[in-house]
Amino acid sequence: MFNCKIIINILCLIFIVKASSDEGYRGSNNFDVLIFTQSWPQTVCYTWKASSPSHTCSLPKKHDEWTIHGIWPSQYHKVGPEFCNKSMPFKPHDLESLKEELQEKWIDVEYGRTSYSLWEHEWNKHGTCAVVLEQLNSEVKYFAEGLNLLAKYDMKNVLTKANIVPGRKYSTKAILNAMKQVLGKRGAVICRENKNTGESYMLEIRICFNKMLQLINCDGISEYPTNCDASKLITYPSTVPRYNVIQV
Ligand SMILES: *[C@@H]1O[C@H](CO)[C@@H](O)[C@H](O)[C@H]1NC(C)=O
Repeated sequence: MFNCKIIINILCLIFIVKASSDEGYRGSNNFDVLIFTQSWPQTVCYTWKASSPSHTCSLPKKHDEWTIHGIWPSQYHKVGPEFCNKSMPFKPHDLESLKEELQEKWIDVEYGRTSYSLWEHEWNKHGTCAVVLEQLNSEVKYFAEGLNLLAKYDMKNVLTKANIVPGRKYSTKAILNAMKQVLGKRGAVICRENKNTGESYMLEIRICFNKMLQLINCDGISEYPTNCDASKLITYPSTVPRYNVIQV
């Protein structure tokens, strides 16, 4: 009745199709876009201090500088991939030659300039996923590219060109339009809300790159184009906003 050979062939075919699709997918290691995120130190510091009375911050020497958060390989409409290879631990020594520059431009606002914790976190979570690109395939290349992208796309320069300066409030739309005008591509802006006053502070600006490190529109990334409350103006604080420690 049954031709066993045919059934075995079909099972075999299913197996081959399944195996080859797994091969192409390589777990969740694939990504569509690199998100380059810059942080506004005053808002990072506000959030950090508001979470505990014992917290202190490290801010840039010039207080109107943006700082690097990271380069994040991402899939569209998703967060991640993240933590792609646990056999590539962060090695502080590899960054010896970049250390002084990183301490000014990729500042660990929370744990301080002499801490490696932000760099270690960014490497483990995002760097180990970015290594599939030749331009980012080592720790030193990943961090050097961050410095390079900041030099080219520093948000201080971008926003200043559109007359957006610290100490004032802007609509989300004005900030997004400024990025589009100056860079020619659409980015994203992330806010942090003050739970006590309802005020919204600019926290991050994200711009996007393809796998050849060319600037592209961010359409399709998670939280695009913003998480800010569209009904309010966003504060671009020139100093760390006054905070009340959140009581639990
Ligand atoms: C993870 O990193 C190790 C050490 O560099 C390498 O040998 C291995 O092939 C990597 N694994 C994957 C899945 O890329």
